[in-house]
Amino acid sequence: MYDLLDQDELTRIRRASRSLLVMPLEDGAAGKHPIVKMLSEKIATVIGPMEALEYAGAAFDPPMLPTVSRCPQTGAYVGLHIDTFHRLSLQSRESAPLRVSINVGLAARYFLFLDLPLRSLVRKLDERRTKEVAPHLAGQAFTRAYPNYPIIRVRIDPGQAYVAPTENMLHDGSSAGIAGVGQNISFRVLFKQSV
Ligand SMILES: [Fe+2]
Repeated sequence: MYDLLDQDELTRIRRASRSLLVMPLEDGAAGKHPIVKMLSEKIATVIGPMEALEYAGAAFDPPMLPTVSRCPQTGAYVGLHIDTFHRLSLQSRESAPLRVSINVGLAARYFLFLDLPLRSLVRKLDERRTKEVAPHLAGQAFTRAYPNYPIIRVRIDPGQAYVAPTENMLHDGSSAGIAGVGQNISFRVLFKQSV
């Protein structure tokens, strides 16, 4: 977790982010928005030099929800999940870009995760002789097989960012117990060295 933005920067971003929020992600112009450029420079300075950066979207998220991620097709809340943006095999998941998600809203948010890489989840499932599952479904199978395995919750305050291998770990966001509407801006990043 990183302190990425000071109060002045946050205020500037909130004022200017309205135009970014209405841009469809597929629109190439979104990646060239001044806020995206400013944040990518911040990430390089505060977190580390990058090989590649891809803008992954800006969004509001509602208050008081145990988990916040939704299926883009159905709108249903998916719960703890493993991202599949790059459709990588189990062996390649460790080299997937990391997700950098920045809280640019007025309210805190939580990042939830299970502290095992996908490869270890699958190994533990094999120990329980669970039938083979696709990498992106291994998390659900794992929580059924190990219902008491702890989930870690990290608070992300406004101006802070988390960096996580979301294509290689079970995770979600949460606004449980927090009344304010959240706002985040995300990137997928390959860093030059591990951060
Ligand atoms: Fe995710």
